[in-house]
Amino acid sequence: MTPGTEYGSTFGRDEPDLRSAHVIVVGNEKGGTGKSTVSIHVTIALLKAGYRVASIDLDTRQKTLTRFLENRQSFARSAEWPVEMPFHHALERGSSTNVRDNETHEFAAFAEAVAAVEHDYEFVVIDTPASDSYLMRLAHSLADTLVSPVNESYIDVDVFSRVHHDRSQRGAIAHYADLVMEARRRRRVVDGGVIDWILLRNRIASLKSNNARQIENSMQHIARELQLRAAEGLHDRVIFRELFPIGLTALDPIEEGMKNNMLSTSQKSARREIADLVSSLRLPLHEKTKGHLAARHLWFERMSEYYRDLGKDKPE
Ligand SMILES: Nc1ncnc2c1ncn2[C@@H]1O[C@H](COP(=O)(O)OP(=O)(O)OP(=O)(O)O)[C@@H](O)[C@H]1O
Ligand SMILES: [Mg+2]
Repeated sequence: MTPGTEYGSTFGRDEPDLRSAHVIVVGNEKGGTGKSTVSIHVTIALLKAGYRVASIDLDTRQKTLTRFLENRQSFARSAEWPVEMPFHHALERGSSTNVRDNETHEFAAFAEAVAAVEHDYEFVVIDTPASDSYLMRLAHSLADTLVSPVNESYIDVDVFSRVHHDRSQRGAIAHYADLVMEARRRRRVVDGGVIDWILLRNRIASLKSNNARQIENSMQHIARELQLRAAEGLHDRVIFRELFPIGLTALDPIEEGMKNNMLSTSQKSARREIADLVSSLRLPLHEKTKGHLAARHLWFERMSEYYRDLGKDKPE
């Protein structure tokens, strides 16, 4: 699959459709915290729960979510059970040397990707890169639910709220949190939308250390300061990474390939953790309708106006 191409199928549409997808963005400017792992598991969990799910990969360099889905699609060809696939779109990076042209191109490509799925799918899961790119900011301001995975480390906490031994220098809003606060502000001004932000612990160690307890306290503090929800996410488990080459997750019927058709205790716990993770997101069970859709269109319209105006200033 080349970036920018799609697979899966959209549903037929004869009548104007006022349903509107709920957008879940998985983001954190800190690299390697588990954004793609969480995107993969949330996507598959929602598909398995019977929802129509679309996914968008904004990580135009690594394309981890896209790679996973390519592996899954290839596995599906010889699988003896139905392998659920989302409708997937991988975005292409703007290739111009002019930053403004790239931004305009990326906005149009992103708007098109969302427009292609917003009526036909109940959820859109967007995996984002670990960078402060324009596209990343754009996606954050569109989120209905924003999930930020963090590892049990002060280095991870420091992108939300400044960590320092000196109390007087501690607690200032750090760069990633600032980016999200700005996205929230933009969203509120443009369409009155609210971004439900969840700080999700990932790669939790099985033995609780003093450090882990301190990180938990810090997260509770951050939750109050930044008006977000701290949630227990995934433990550090081999099952969350070893199935990537075949595009499967712990939720797939992997026991069929195992001795006695039995899952290990850790694999069973992994399934429970994914289910708990999804329920901690408190996603809407029913499709959002007219009001939500109109708000998203307003958001895109205002953003397009902004680009049209920028274009007017451009020197010939
Ligand atoms: N709960 C977990 N248990 C075990 N391994 C995990 C878990 N979560 C993530 N990993 C592993 O940690 C590494 C980073 O995860 P992942 O690629 O999902 O992070 P990311 O935030 O998407 O990274 P990037 O910022 O580079 O896009 C990968 O090797 C992944 O397999
Ligand atoms: Mg990633």
